[in-house]
Amino acid sequence: METTVLWLCLGLAFLGRGWGSHTGMSHGVCKLGHGAAACNGRELKLVPADLPANTKELFLDDNTIQMLRNASLLQYRQLGNLGLSGNTLKLIESGAFLNNRDLQVLSLADNALFTNYSVTAAALWSLPALRKLDLSGNQLTEDMVATLIQNLSSLESLSVARNVIMRLDSFIFERLSQLQELNLEKNYIFEIESGTFEGLRRLQRLSLAYNYLPCIVEFDLTQLKMLNVSNNIIEWFLAVESDALFELETLDLSHNRLLFFPLLPRQSKLNSLLLMDNEMCFYRHLPNATYPPNVTVQFLLIDGNITNITTLSLWDEVIHSNLSSLRFLDMSQNQFWYLPEGFLAGMTSLSYLKLNQNCLQTFHIWEEEPPGMLIELDLSQNQLSELQVDLGSEGILPNLRLLNLSANGLQKVPAKLFAHTPKITTVDLSHNRIDVCPQQANADGSKYSVCIDFRNIMTLKQLYLAGCGLDVVDGHAFSGTSLTHLDLSNNQRALSRSLRPLQDIALTLQVVSLRNASLSCATADMDFSSFQNLLSLDLSENSLDSFPESLGSLKLHTLNLQRNLLTSLSQDAMQKQLGKSLNMLYLSQNPYNCCKLEWWDFLHSLQTVHIVDRVEVTCLYSSRTLHAAQLPESVLQACRWMTVNLALLYLVLALPICLTLLVAFAIMFLTFKQKLLQMVKSRYRVSSPY
Ligand SMILES: *[C@@H]1O[C@H](CO)[C@@H](O)[C@H](O)[C@H]1NC(C)=O
Ligand SMILES: *[C@@H]1O[C@H](CO)[C@@H](O)[C@H](O)[C@H]1NC(C)=O
Ligand SMILES: *[C@@H]1O[C@H](CO)[C@@H](O)[C@H](O)[C@H]1NC(C)=O
Ligand SMILES: *[C@@H]1O[C@H](CO)[C@@H](O)[C@H](O)[C@H]1NC(C)=O
Ligand SMILES: *[C@@H]1O[C@H](CO)[C@@H](O)[C@H](O)[C@H]1NC(C)=O
Ligand SMILES: *[C@@H]1O[C@H](CO)[C@@H](O)[C@H](O)[C@H]1NC(C)=O
Ligand SMILES: *[C@@H]1O[C@H](CO)[C@@H](O)[C@H](O)[C@H]1NC(C)=O
Ligand SMILES: *[C@@H]1O[C@H](CO)[C@@H](O)[C@H](O)[C@H]1NC(C)=O
Ligand SMILES: *[C@@H]1O[C@H](CO)[C@@H](O)[C@H](O)[C@H]1NC(C)=O
Ligand SMILES: *[C@@H]1O[C@H](CO)[C@@H](O)[C@H](O)[C@H]1NC(C)=O
Ligand SMILES: *[C@@H]1O[C@H](CO)[C@@H](O)[C@H](O)[C@H]1NC(C)=O
Repeated sequence: METTVLWLCLGLAFLGRGWGSHTGMSHGVCKLGHGAAACNGRELKLVPADLPANTKELFLDDNTIQMLRNASLLQYRQLGNLGLSGNTLKLIESGAFLNNRDLQVLSLADNALFTNYSVTAAALWSLPALRKLDLSGNQLTEDMVATLIQNLSSLESLSVARNVIMRLDSFIFERLSQLQELNLEKNYIFEIESGTFEGLRRLQRLSLAYNYLPCIVEFDLTQLKMLNVSNNIIEWFLAVESDALFELETLDLSHNRLLFFPLLPRQSKLNSLLLMDNEMCFYRHLPNATYPPNVTVQFLLIDGNITNITTLSLWDEVIHSNLSSLRFLDMSQNQFWYLPEGFLAGMTSLSYLKLNQNCLQTFHIWEEEPPGMLIELDLSQNQLSELQVDLGSEGILPNLRLLNLSANGLQKVPAKLFAHTPKITTVDLSHNRIDVCPQQANADGSKYSVCIDFRNIMTLKQLYLAGCGLDVVDGHAFSGTSLTHLDLSNNQRALSRSLRPLQDIALTLQVVSLRNASLSCATADMDFSSFQNLLSLDLSENSLDSFPESLGSLKLHTLNLQRNLLTSLSQDAMQKQLGKSLNMLYLSQNPYNCCKLEWWDFLHSLQTVHIVDRVEVTCLYSSRTLHAAQLPESVLQACRWMTVNLALLYLVLALPICLTLLVAFAIMFLTFKQKLLQMVKSRYRVSSPY
């Protein structure tokens, strides 16, 4: 092993030199090549003065340069890209860039530029070609930022993230007419004066994530393509009411305090709308319904001496925006308990809809508004007791591939639902009270309100049925599918009689979880030998008291045997195919015998098997629980003694038998060979010289 490492190091050293000599330059501290010099993390206090004069890219990130002097970059006239992030830079002298008129990209992130910002600002003003500037993490206030950027009219991308900006005045970005991207993340902004972004005609991407904005009203930045205001405290988002076409493609409002569905621009190119983790719901059908049907709210927008009033009808559920281009809608982690009729109607391109972690009680897919483009629908963690789908027309969900209904209280699912989903590959129904058809007639005669038929759904690849309280699954319940992933964990009865239901799909299965499924070695056919393509098998939390030998012939990568009753593992099986392919093994919480850990040593000798929970594996030694990885020497010795003692015991047990046999043999010998004896005797008698 050590030799390999050494060879590797030599190889790298050789490569390193090769690179230097190839480009015809070498430098003690920096890596040179293709007009670039990389001097990152070398504890430099000064800019190296001996780099090639034609250096175009100079990376000095993560050093300890405190000051950039007038002379520091004097000889690098062709510099186009300079990285100085993660230094302790306090000051850039005002003449420092006088010779770098071609500098386009400058990163000054994570320094201390707040100290002498006005001098630094003067230095930046001499950069006529600067396109990209990163000033994040410099403890800059809004005034400092204003000073630093006021003359940078060539700037296309600016980051002032992670500073201490609290409000934005309307003049701050006034001259940045070329700006396309502006990052204001992770400041303390609670107020933005109207008109702040007005001059930024080319602005496309604006991030205000992680600030303290309480609302966004009269949003009118038609030129923006991406607006990120996630992680603020926004309660209202209102776009200006106009028919202007907004370029907006991505709007991230996640992790805020929105109470109502946002009032979006009427015409936009919106593609992704992220509303995760807010407090939204629709209010018209409140359970008590004592609210007047028309409740309006008036916004007073005051700008100087002009006051505008916007009136909104709160219970209005009709979305007036044209959302025909919306493809991704995330409304997870909100308070929705219903969606108004027609909500999805206009979203004709909708492909991904996430409604998980709400309190939906019903979900209705209407025939008039078939979400025909829908690819993934996540309804997990709601309170759905039924899924209503108008199955009148064929193929109402022709593109659906993933349906997640996990953790609901489902009782009714249209029996032939999957006949309408010709492309379905993944179904998650875990943690619902459902059953798989056909099931055996149950003894107590109670009726199953839900039974889902998976047979002959040829496209189905992944099926999750964990914790469904499944009754004994019929032997052919999965026939006609080509399942690769199957999760039947936490179902005590499903496979309690045999593994027969899995035999139909034995050849396609790759990942199977049978955790906590009441499997024991007494289960009729704990034979996995036909599962030749299985890669991952979870058998944890069962009652296996011996290692299923049939696993030996499988090409498993991952095997979980935690929480069973195993006293040892089969070394035989590990010597076969299994030992060669196995990569991740989970073993803890079994009552292994401390004195019979040969298999443990063998697994270690394989080196390819990673025992993930290695430190938690324990074994039993005279009713003590010990860590298998650190057995005390005394125990090891005691175990050896036990083996020796055992040998002695066998000897002691065997001795009387041996003696008896010996005596018997002697008697027999004496009886049959008496003549011989006599002869011997007589000879002795003859020859004995008395
Ligand atoms: C650096 O250069 C600027 C502009 O030429 C000059 O005003 C300033 O005094 C110089 N600073 C030092 C410390 O020489
Ligand atoms: C930098 O700022 C410090 C105090 O913040 C000040 O004493 C010093 O004179 C400034 N240096 C320059 C060159 O302006
Ligand atoms: C901006 O740059 C011009 C020269 O391009 C200069 O005269 C002026 O002082 C700089 N500063 C401000 C605040 O305009
Ligand atoms: C918005 O910003 C946050 C914080 O940087 C980031 O995690 C998130 O991915 C961004 N959203 C989009 C849509 O890019
Ligand atoms: C609806 O009525 C129930 C009890 O009658 C009450 O607890 C609940 O607060 C009411 N909800 C609303 C929104 O008024
Ligand atoms: C609610 O208000 C709208 C206009 O503000 C009006 O057209 C409608 O008739 C009102 N509905 C009721 C039930 O009052
Ligand atoms: C008020 O309304 C007028 C006309 O609709 C509009 O031009 C102006 O920008 C609005 N002012 C504010 C602060 O929204
Ligand atoms: C608003 O105030 C400005 C002066 O501050 C004045 O010129 C303008 O006429 C005023 N507008 C209105 C509508 O009062
Ligand atoms: C929505 O916008 C698309 C083009 O972006 C257009 O084809 C469609 O007719 C519009 N729908 C409505 C209802 O205005
Ligand atoms: C379904 O949703 C649950 C909970 O939201 C999640 O844990 C699970 O991974 C999802 N299933 C699939 C197949 O994506
Ligand atoms: C095993 O499954 C049963 C039935 O689903 C469940 O009640 C129990 O909590 C599970 N045990 C563990 C340890 O998860």
